[in-house]
Amino acid sequence: MSTVLTDEKIPNNVNLAGDKRLQRALEAWQPQFIDWWKQMGPVGWQERDIYLRTAVSVETEGWAHFNYVKMPDYRWGIFLEPKQPDRVHGFGDNQGQPVWDEVPGEFRNMLRRLVVTQGDTEPASVEQQRMLGATAPSLYDLRNLFQVNVEEGRHLWAMVYLLHTYFGRDGREEAEELLQRRSGDSDKPRILGAFNEPTSHWLSFFMFTMFTDRDGKYQLAALAESGFDPLARTCRFMLTEEAHHMFVGETGVQRIVKRACELMKTGDVRAQGGVDLPTLQKYLNLWYSLSLDLFGGEVSSNAADAFAAGLKGRYKEDRYDEHKLIGSHFGMEVLEEGRVVHKDVPMRNALNEVLRTEYIKDCQRGVDRWNKTIREEGIDFELRLPDHKFHRQIGMWSNHRFAPSGELLDQSTWDARRGEWLPNDADETYIKSLMHPVYERGKMANWIAPPAKGINALPGDFEYVKL
Ligand SMILES: [Fe+2]
Ligand SMILES: [Fe+2]
Repeated sequence: MSTVLTDEKIPNNVNLAGDKRLQRALEAWQPQFIDWWKQMGPVGWQERDIYLRTAVSVETEGWAHFNYVKMPDYRWGIFLEPKQPDRVHGFGDNQGQPVWDEVPGEFRNMLRRLVVTQGDTEPASVEQQRMLGATAPSLYDLRNLFQVNVEEGRHLWAMVYLLHTYFGRDGREEAEELLQRRSGDSDKPRILGAFNEPTSHWLSFFMFTMFTDRDGKYQLAALAESGFDPLARTCRFMLTEEAHHMFVGETGVQRIVKRACELMKTGDVRAQGGVDLPTLQKYLNLWYSLSLDLFGGEVSSNAADAFAAGLKGRYKEDRYDEHKLIGSHFGMEVLEEGRVVHKDVPMRNALNEVLRTEYIKDCQRGVDRWNKTIREEGIDFELRLPDHKFHRQIGMWSNHRFAPSGELLDQSTWDARRGEWLPNDADETYIKSLMHPVYERGKMANWIAPPAKGINALPGDFEYVKL
Protein backbone atom coordinates (compact mmCIF):
# COMPACT_ATOMS: atom_id res chain seq x y z
CA MET A 1 0.00 0.00 0.00
CA SER A 2 2.57 2.56 1.03
CA THR A 3 5.27 1.83 -1.55
CA VAL A 4 4.88 3.92 -4.64
CA LEU A 5 5.57 2.26 -7.97
CA THR A 6 7.64 4.98 -9.55
CA ASP A 7 7.92 3.28 -12.92
CA GLU A 8 4.21 3.71 -13.60
CA LYS A 9 2.88 6.45 -15.83
CA ILE A 10 0.94 7.80 -12.87
CA PRO A 11 2.86 7.27 -9.60
CA ASN A 12 0.45 6.06 -6.97
CA ASN A 13 -0.01 4.06 -3.82
CA VAL A 14 -3.61 3.09 -4.54
CA ASN A 15 -2.89 0.04 -6.71
CA LEU A 16 -4.05 1.79 -9.84
CA ALA A 17 -2.69 -1.08 -11.95
CA GLY A 18 -5.27 -3.32 -10.26
CA ASP A 19 -8.17 -1.32 -11.74
CA LYS A 20 -7.61 -1.17 -15.49
CA ARG A 21 -10.75 0.85 -16.21
CA LEU A 22 -9.81 3.55 -13.73
CA GLN A 23 -6.19 3.50 -14.87
CA ARG A 24 -7.26 4.06 -18.48
CA ALA A 25 -9.58 6.90 -17.49
CA LEU A 26 -6.86 8.69 -15.52
CA GLU A 27 -4.28 8.06 -18.24
CA ALA A 28 -6.69 9.75 -20.63
CA TRP A 29 -7.04 12.73 -18.29
CA GLN A 30 -3.25 13.02 -17.80
CA PRO A 31 -2.41 14.61 -21.22
CA GLN A 32 -5.25 17.12 -20.72
CA PHE A 33 -3.72 18.03 -17.40
CA ILE A 34 -0.27 18.49 -18.99
CA ASP A 35 -1.82 20.66 -21.71
CA TRP A 36 -3.49 22.77 -19.04
CA TRP A 37 -0.19 23.01 -17.12
CA LYS A 38 1.70 24.17 -20.19
CA GLN A 39 -1.00 26.65 -21.13
CA MET A 40 -1.94 28.00 -17.67
CA GLY A 41 1.00 27.04 -15.42
CA PRO A 42 4.10 29.17 -14.75
CA VAL A 43 5.06 31.35 -17.72
CA GLY A 44 8.63 30.61 -18.76
CA TRP A 45 10.93 28.31 -16.76
CA GLN A 46 9.24 25.15 -17.98
CA GLU A 47 12.47 23.90 -19.59
CA ARG A 48 14.67 24.79 -16.61
CA ASP A 49 15.89 22.47 -13.89
CA ILE A 50 14.24 23.38 -10.60
CA TYR A 51 15.29 21.96 -7.25
CA LEU A 52 11.96 20.48 -6.16
CA ARG A 53 10.56 18.19 -3.54
CA THR A 54 8.70 15.24 -5.00
CA ALA A 55 6.77 12.66 -3.04
CA VAL A 56 7.96 9.16 -3.92
CA SER A 57 6.05 7.48 -1.10
CA VAL A 58 3.91 8.53 1.85
CA GLU A 59 6.49 7.24 4.34
CA THR A 60 8.36 9.85 6.38
CA GLU A 61 11.53 9.62 4.26
CA GLY A 62 9.64 9.20 1.02
CA TRP A 63 7.47 12.24 0.79
CA ALA A 64 10.27 14.79 0.94
CA HIS A 65 12.57 13.64 -1.81
CA PHE A 66 14.56 16.53 -3.39
CA ASN A 67 16.02 16.67 -6.87
CA TYR A 68 16.34 18.81 -9.97
CA VAL A 69 13.37 18.37 -12.26
CA LYS A 70 11.80 20.23 -15.17
CA MET A 71 8.28 21.18 -14.14
CA PRO A 72 6.39 19.36 -16.94
CA ASP A 73 8.29 16.18 -15.88
CA TYR A 74 7.21 16.51 -12.24
CA ARG A 75 5.87 13.17 -10.97
CA TRP A 76 2.31 14.22 -10.23
CA GLY A 77 0.77 11.23 -8.58
CA ILE A 78 -1.91 9.87 -6.31
CA PHE A 79 -1.02 9.39 -2.67
CA LEU A 80 -3.35 8.43 0.12
CA GLU A 81 -2.39 7.92 3.73
CA PRO A 82 -2.49 4.20 4.57
CA LYS A 83 -5.87 2.91 5.67
CA GLN A 84 -6.39 2.67 9.41
CA PRO A 85 -8.02 -0.65 10.22
CA ASP A 86 -11.40 -0.45 11.97
CA ARG A 87 -11.71 3.32 11.59
CA VAL A 88 -15.15 4.59 12.62
CA HIS A 89 -17.08 7.83 12.04
CA GLY A 90 -15.68 10.36 14.50
CA PHE A 91 -18.69 12.70 14.51
CA GLY A 92 -22.20 13.31 13.21
CA ASP A 93 -25.27 11.09 13.12
CA ASN A 94 -23.21 7.98 12.34
CA GLN A 95 -20.61 8.47 15.05
CA GLY A 96 -19.10 5.12 16.06
CA GLN A 97 -20.24 3.31 12.88
CA PRO A 98 -17.60 1.96 10.47
CA VAL A 99 -16.42 4.56 7.92
CA TRP A 100 -17.46 4.27 4.28
CA ASP A 101 -15.20 3.09 1.46
CA GLU A 102 -17.87 3.92 -1.12
CA VAL A 103 -20.07 6.98 -1.48
CA PRO A 104 -23.49 6.46 0.11
CA GLY A 105 -26.15 7.28 -2.49
CA GLU A 106 -28.00 9.84 -0.39
CA PHE A 107 -24.86 11.93 0.15
CA ARG A 108 -23.46 11.65 -3.33
CA ASN A 109 -24.30 15.20 -4.47
CA MET A 110 -23.15 16.83 -1.26
CA LEU A 111 -19.87 14.95 -1.34
CA ARG A 112 -19.27 15.68 -5.00
CA ARG A 113 -19.79 19.39 -4.33
CA LEU A 114 -17.26 19.30 -1.47
CA VAL A 115 -14.67 17.54 -3.65
CA VAL A 116 -15.22 19.80 -6.67
CA THR A 117 -15.09 23.00 -4.60
CA GLN A 118 -11.84 21.94 -2.96
CA GLY A 119 -10.46 20.66 -6.28
CA ASP A 120 -11.24 23.91 -8.09
CA THR A 121 -9.02 25.97 -5.77
CA GLU A 122 -5.92 23.95 -6.67
CA PRO A 123 -5.52 24.81 -10.39
CA ALA A 124 -6.97 28.27 -9.69
CA SER A 125 -4.01 29.29 -7.54
CA VAL A 126 -1.55 28.07 -10.18
CA GLU A 127 -3.34 30.28 -12.72
CA GLN A 128 -3.31 33.27 -10.38
CA GLN A 129 0.44 32.97 -9.85
CA ARG A 130 1.57 32.15 -13.37
CA MET A 131 3.30 35.48 -14.12
CA LEU A 132 5.33 35.72 -10.92
CA GLY A 133 8.43 33.90 -12.19
CA ALA A 134 9.30 37.01 -14.22
CA THR A 135 9.84 39.12 -11.09
CA ALA A 136 11.13 36.72 -8.41
CA PRO A 137 13.14 38.46 -5.66
CA SER A 138 15.65 35.56 -5.57
CA LEU A 139 16.29 32.04 -6.86
CA TYR A 140 15.24 30.73 -3.46
CA ASP A 141 11.83 32.41 -3.79
CA LEU A 142 11.51 31.39 -7.43
CA ARG A 143 12.01 27.79 -6.45
CA ASN A 144 9.49 28.06 -3.61
CA LEU A 145 6.90 29.50 -5.99
CA PHE A 146 7.32 26.55 -8.33
CA GLN A 147 7.23 24.09 -5.43
CA VAL A 148 3.88 25.52 -4.38
CA ASN A 149 2.64 25.45 -7.98
CA VAL A 150 3.52 21.81 -8.70
CA GLU A 151 2.01 20.72 -5.39
CA GLU A 152 -1.24 22.54 -6.13
CA GLY A 153 -1.18 20.61 -9.40
CA ARG A 154 -0.81 17.43 -7.39
CA HIS A 155 -3.71 18.42 -5.16
CA LEU A 156 -5.81 18.69 -8.28
CA TRP A 157 -4.78 15.11 -9.08
CA ALA A 158 -5.85 14.05 -5.59
CA MET A 159 -9.38 15.41 -6.09
CA VAL A 160 -9.61 14.13 -9.67
CA TYR A 161 -8.69 10.66 -8.44
CA LEU A 162 -11.69 10.78 -6.08
CA LEU A 163 -13.99 12.07 -8.84
CA HIS A 164 -12.93 9.39 -11.31
CA THR A 165 -12.97 6.57 -8.79
CA TYR A 166 -16.19 7.23 -6.89
CA PHE A 167 -18.48 9.42 -8.99
CA GLY A 168 -18.74 7.63 -12.35
CA ARG A 169 -19.58 9.65 -15.42
CA ASP A 170 -20.50 12.78 -13.37
CA GLY A 171 -17.09 12.63 -11.76
CA ARG A 172 -15.29 12.37 -15.10
CA GLU A 173 -17.21 15.39 -16.39
CA GLU A 174 -16.38 17.38 -13.26
CA ALA A 175 -12.70 16.45 -13.72
CA GLU A 176 -12.78 17.89 -17.24
CA GLU A 177 -14.45 21.08 -16.05
CA LEU A 178 -11.74 21.56 -13.44
CA LEU A 179 -9.37 22.08 -16.38
CA GLN A 180 -11.79 24.37 -18.24
CA ARG A 181 -12.63 27.03 -15.66
CA ARG A 182 -10.09 29.86 -15.45
CA SER A 183 -9.19 32.18 -12.59
CA GLY A 184 -10.66 35.64 -13.20
CA ASP A 185 -12.45 34.63 -16.42
CA SER A 186 -15.81 36.37 -16.79
CA ASP A 187 -17.49 33.44 -18.57
CA LYS A 188 -15.95 30.50 -16.73
CA PRO A 189 -14.54 31.79 -13.45
CA ARG A 190 -13.21 29.62 -10.66
CA ILE A 191 -15.84 28.77 -8.05
CA LEU A 192 -14.64 30.86 -5.08
CA GLY A 193 -14.05 34.62 -5.03
CA ALA A 194 -10.52 34.80 -3.61
CA PHE A 195 -9.38 32.44 -6.37
CA ASN A 196 -10.43 34.91 -9.04
CA GLU A 197 -8.39 37.80 -7.60
CA PRO A 198 -5.13 38.43 -9.42
CA THR A 199 -1.93 37.64 -7.55
CA SER A 200 -0.05 40.23 -9.51
CA HIS A 201 3.08 40.65 -7.42
CA TRP A 202 5.09 38.94 -4.74
CA LEU A 203 3.62 40.80 -1.79
CA SER A 204 0.22 39.40 -2.77
CA PHE A 205 1.77 35.98 -3.35
CA PHE A 206 3.16 35.87 0.18
CA MET A 207 -0.13 37.15 1.63
CA PHE A 208 -2.00 34.56 -0.42
CA THR A 209 0.16 31.69 0.80
CA MET A 210 -0.09 32.99 4.37
CA PHE A 211 -3.85 33.56 4.49
CA THR A 212 -5.54 31.82 1.56
CA ASP A 213 -3.49 28.62 1.69
CA ARG A 214 -4.25 28.59 5.41
CA ASP A 215 -7.95 28.48 4.61
CA GLY A 216 -6.99 25.41 2.55
CA LYS A 217 -5.36 23.90 5.61
CA TYR A 218 -8.55 24.27 7.63
CA GLN A 219 -10.82 22.98 4.87
CA LEU A 220 -8.53 19.98 4.32
CA ALA A 221 -8.32 19.34 8.05
CA ALA A 222 -12.13 19.34 8.30
CA LEU A 223 -12.33 16.94 5.33
CA ALA A 224 -9.54 14.81 6.80
CA GLU A 225 -12.07 13.92 9.54
CA SER A 226 -14.52 12.65 6.93
CA GLY A 227 -16.39 9.40 7.34
CA PHE A 228 -15.86 8.89 3.59
CA ASP A 229 -12.51 7.25 4.18
CA PRO A 230 -10.81 7.83 0.78
CA LEU A 231 -11.43 11.57 1.17
CA ALA A 232 -10.02 11.56 4.71
CA ARG A 233 -6.91 9.67 3.62
CA THR A 234 -6.17 11.89 0.63
CA CYS A 235 -6.66 15.11 2.63
CA ARG A 236 -4.32 13.90 5.36
CA PHE A 237 -1.53 13.51 2.88
CA MET A 238 -2.29 16.88 1.24
CA LEU A 239 -1.91 18.58 4.62
CA THR A 240 1.74 17.55 4.83
CA GLU A 241 2.39 19.40 1.55
CA GLU A 242 0.21 22.38 2.50
CA ALA A 243 2.37 23.14 5.54
CA HIS A 244 5.22 24.23 3.26
CA HIS A 245 2.96 26.67 1.40
CA MET A 246 2.11 28.48 4.62
CA PHE A 247 5.76 28.46 5.61
CA VAL A 248 6.52 30.25 2.33
CA GLY A 249 3.83 32.85 3.07
CA GLU A 250 4.58 33.47 6.71
CA THR A 251 8.35 33.68 6.30
CA GLY A 252 7.98 35.67 3.07
CA VAL A 253 6.01 38.39 4.84
CA GLN A 254 8.31 38.17 7.86
CA ARG A 255 11.32 38.87 5.60
CA ILE A 256 9.55 41.89 4.05
CA VAL A 257 8.73 43.15 7.55
CA LYS A 258 12.33 42.72 8.65
CA ARG A 259 13.64 44.61 5.64
CA ALA A 260 11.09 47.41 6.22
CA CYS A 261 12.34 47.77 9.80
CA GLU A 262 15.98 47.92 8.67
CA LEU A 263 15.12 50.66 6.18
CA MET A 264 13.09 52.62 8.76
CA LYS A 265 16.29 53.15 10.72
CA THR A 266 17.94 54.95 7.82
CA GLY A 267 15.06 57.02 6.46
CA ASP A 268 11.80 56.78 4.57
CA VAL A 269 11.09 53.19 3.56
CA ARG A 270 9.53 53.92 0.18
CA ALA A 271 12.27 56.41 -0.73
CA GLN A 272 14.71 53.54 -0.22
CA GLY A 273 12.71 51.05 -2.27
CA GLY A 274 11.13 49.02 0.53
CA VAL A 275 7.59 48.00 1.43
CA ASP A 276 6.56 50.26 4.31
CA LEU A 277 4.65 48.65 7.16
CA PRO A 278 1.41 50.68 6.70
CA THR A 279 1.22 49.45 3.10
CA LEU A 280 1.94 45.92 4.21
CA GLN A 281 -0.95 46.25 6.70
CA LYS A 282 -3.30 47.11 3.81
CA TYR A 283 -2.37 43.97 1.90
CA LEU A 284 -2.80 41.99 5.09
CA ASN A 285 -6.31 43.47 5.43
CA LEU A 286 -7.13 42.58 1.84
CA TRP A 287 -5.99 38.97 1.75
CA TYR A 288 -7.15 38.13 5.25
CA SER A 289 -10.68 39.41 4.54
CA LEU A 290 -10.83 37.64 1.16
CA SER A 291 -9.73 34.44 2.87
CA LEU A 292 -12.33 34.72 5.66
CA ASP A 293 -15.00 34.66 2.95
CA LEU A 294 -13.85 31.19 1.88
CA PHE A 295 -15.35 29.63 5.00
CA GLY A 296 -18.87 30.44 3.77
CA GLY A 297 -21.92 31.83 5.51
CA GLU A 298 -21.89 32.30 9.30
CA VAL A 299 -25.11 30.36 9.75
CA SER A 300 -25.26 27.53 7.27
CA SER A 301 -27.57 24.57 6.78
CA ASN A 302 -25.06 23.11 4.30
CA ALA A 303 -22.45 23.00 7.04
CA ALA A 304 -24.98 21.37 9.38
CA ASP A 305 -25.89 18.76 6.75
CA ALA A 306 -22.26 17.92 5.96
CA PHE A 307 -21.54 17.45 9.65
CA ALA A 308 -24.67 15.39 10.31
CA ALA A 309 -23.80 13.14 7.35
CA GLY A 310 -20.28 12.63 8.69
CA LEU A 311 -18.68 14.16 5.59
CA LYS A 312 -16.98 17.26 7.04
CA GLY A 313 -15.95 17.59 10.67
CA ARG A 314 -14.35 20.25 12.80
CA TYR A 315 -10.65 21.12 12.95
CA LYS A 316 -9.04 18.31 14.96
CA GLU A 317 -12.32 16.71 15.95
CA ASP A 318 -10.47 14.56 18.53
CA ARG A 319 -9.87 17.57 20.76
CA TYR A 320 -13.59 17.92 21.43
CA ASP A 321 -15.49 15.84 23.99
CA GLU A 322 -18.80 15.78 22.18
CA HIS A 323 -19.19 14.83 18.54
CA LYS A 324 -22.90 14.85 17.72
CA LEU A 325 -23.63 18.49 18.56
CA ILE A 326 -27.32 18.09 19.16
CA GLY A 327 -28.67 20.72 21.53
CA SER A 328 -25.37 22.59 21.89
CA HIS A 329 -24.80 26.19 20.83
CA PHE A 330 -22.04 28.49 19.66
CA GLY A 331 -21.92 32.09 20.92
CA MET A 332 -21.17 34.44 18.05
CA GLU A 333 -21.82 37.88 16.63
CA VAL A 334 -24.83 38.14 14.34
CA LEU A 335 -26.58 40.96 12.58
CA GLU A 336 -30.09 41.72 13.81
CA GLU A 337 -32.12 44.67 12.54
CA GLY A 338 -28.99 46.41 11.39
CA ARG A 339 -27.16 45.95 14.70
CA VAL A 340 -24.36 43.64 15.75
CA VAL A 341 -25.48 41.48 18.68
CA HIS A 342 -24.16 38.38 20.44
CA LYS A 343 -26.29 35.30 20.05
CA ASP A 344 -26.19 31.56 20.65
CA VAL A 345 -26.60 29.71 17.37
CA PRO A 346 -27.31 25.95 17.19
CA MET A 347 -23.84 24.43 16.93
CA ARG A 348 -24.36 22.43 13.74
CA ASN A 349 -25.50 25.56 11.89
CA ALA A 350 -22.53 27.52 13.24
CA LEU A 351 -19.83 25.14 12.02
CA ASN A 352 -18.48 27.45 9.31
CA GLU A 353 -17.99 30.04 12.02
CA VAL A 354 -16.43 27.48 14.37
CA LEU A 355 -13.87 26.59 11.68
CA ARG A 356 -13.30 30.26 10.83
CA THR A 357 -12.66 30.97 14.53
CA GLU A 358 -9.93 28.31 14.66
CA TYR A 359 -8.44 29.79 11.49
CA ILE A 360 -8.41 33.29 12.98
CA LYS A 361 -6.47 32.04 16.02
CA ASP A 362 -3.92 30.46 13.71
CA CYS A 363 -3.56 33.66 11.67
CA GLN A 364 -3.09 35.62 14.89
CA ARG A 365 -0.18 33.37 15.88
CA GLY A 366 1.52 34.25 12.58
CA VAL A 367 0.90 37.98 13.03
CA ASP A 368 2.32 37.72 16.57
CA ARG A 369 5.52 36.31 15.11
CA TRP A 370 5.74 39.21 12.62
CA ASN A 371 5.28 41.64 15.50
CA LYS A 372 8.06 39.88 17.39
CA THR A 373 10.36 40.58 14.44
CA ILE A 374 9.33 44.26 14.54
CA ARG A 375 10.05 44.46 18.28
CA GLU A 376 13.41 42.74 17.87
CA GLU A 377 14.33 45.38 15.31
CA GLY A 378 13.49 48.03 17.91
CA ILE A 379 10.64 49.52 15.91
CA ASP A 380 7.41 50.81 17.45
CA PHE A 381 4.70 49.45 15.16
CA GLU A 382 2.14 46.69 15.43
CA LEU A 383 0.49 44.73 12.62
CA ARG A 384 -3.10 43.72 13.32
CA LEU A 385 -5.70 41.39 11.92
CA PRO A 386 -8.75 43.47 11.08
CA ASP A 387 -12.07 42.53 12.66
CA HIS A 388 -13.74 39.54 11.00
CA LYS A 389 -16.61 41.77 9.78
CA PHE A 390 -14.27 44.06 7.82
CA HIS A 391 -14.51 43.99 3.97
CA ARG A 392 -16.57 40.84 3.73
CA GLN A 393 -18.22 39.80 0.48
CA ILE A 394 -19.84 36.56 1.60
CA GLY A 395 -22.14 35.99 4.55
CA MET A 396 -24.16 38.19 6.86
CA TRP A 397 -21.66 41.07 7.04
CA SER A 398 -21.37 41.51 3.30
CA ASN A 399 -24.23 44.03 2.98
CA HIS A 400 -22.77 46.36 5.60
CA ARG A 401 -19.56 48.31 5.96
CA PHE A 402 -17.20 47.89 8.89
CA ALA A 403 -13.93 49.52 9.86
CA PRO A 404 -10.92 47.30 10.68
CA SER A 405 -11.84 47.94 14.33
CA GLY A 406 -15.25 46.30 13.77
CA GLU A 407 -17.16 49.57 13.99
CA LEU A 408 -20.26 49.72 11.78
CA LEU A 409 -19.93 52.51 9.18
CA ASP A 410 -22.22 54.25 6.76
CA GLN A 411 -21.41 53.96 3.07
CA SER A 412 -19.99 57.47 2.68
CA THR A 413 -17.54 57.01 5.56
CA TRP A 414 -16.47 53.72 4.05
CA ASP A 415 -16.00 55.28 0.61
CA ALA A 416 -13.95 58.11 2.09
CA ARG A 417 -11.69 55.85 4.16
CA ARG A 418 -11.42 52.68 2.10
CA GLY A 419 -8.05 53.73 0.64
CA GLU A 420 -6.57 53.96 4.15
CA TRP A 421 -7.44 50.35 4.83
CA LEU A 422 -7.12 48.55 1.53
CA PRO A 423 -4.49 48.91 -1.20
CA ASN A 424 -5.39 51.78 -3.50
CA ASP A 425 -4.20 52.25 -7.08
CA ALA A 426 -1.14 54.20 -5.96
CA ASP A 427 -0.11 51.40 -3.56
CA GLU A 428 -0.55 48.80 -6.24
CA THR A 429 1.50 50.85 -8.71
CA TYR A 430 4.22 51.36 -6.12
CA ILE A 431 4.45 47.68 -5.17
CA LYS A 432 4.56 46.67 -8.83
CA SER A 433 7.36 49.18 -9.40
CA LEU A 434 9.53 47.21 -6.93
CA MET A 435 9.11 43.94 -8.77
CA HIS A 436 12.34 43.38 -10.66
CA PRO A 437 13.79 39.90 -10.98
CA VAL A 438 16.92 38.92 -9.07
CA TYR A 439 18.30 35.70 -10.52
CA GLU A 440 21.88 35.81 -9.22
CA ARG A 441 22.73 33.05 -6.78
CA GLY A 442 22.48 34.19 -3.16
CA LYS A 443 21.29 37.72 -4.08
CA MET A 444 18.01 39.26 -2.84
CA ALA A 445 15.80 42.08 -4.06
CA ASN A 446 16.20 45.19 -1.92
CA TRP A 447 12.67 45.01 -0.45
CA ILE A 448 13.04 41.61 1.22
CA ALA A 449 15.50 40.17 3.75
CA PRO A 450 17.25 36.87 3.01
CA PRO A 451 15.71 33.69 4.49
CA ALA A 452 17.03 32.45 7.82
CA LYS A 453 18.09 29.21 6.14
CA GLY A 454 17.98 27.50 2.78
CA ILE A 455 15.73 24.71 1.53
CA ASN A 456 16.63 21.19 2.66
CA ALA A 457 19.43 22.60 4.85
CA LEU A 458 21.27 23.90 1.77
CA PRO A 459 23.06 27.26 1.82
CA GLY A 460 21.26 30.43 0.73
CA ASP A 461 23.39 30.79 -2.40
CA PHE A 462 22.53 27.30 -3.64
CA GLU A 463 21.51 27.17 -7.30
CA TYR A 464 17.81 26.48 -6.62
CA VAL A 465 16.95 27.13 -10.25
CA LYS A 466 19.42 26.44 -13.06
CA LEU A 467 19.39 29.37 -15.46
FE1 LIG B 1 -3.56 22.78 -2.30
FE1 LIG C 1 -1.49 25.24 -0.98
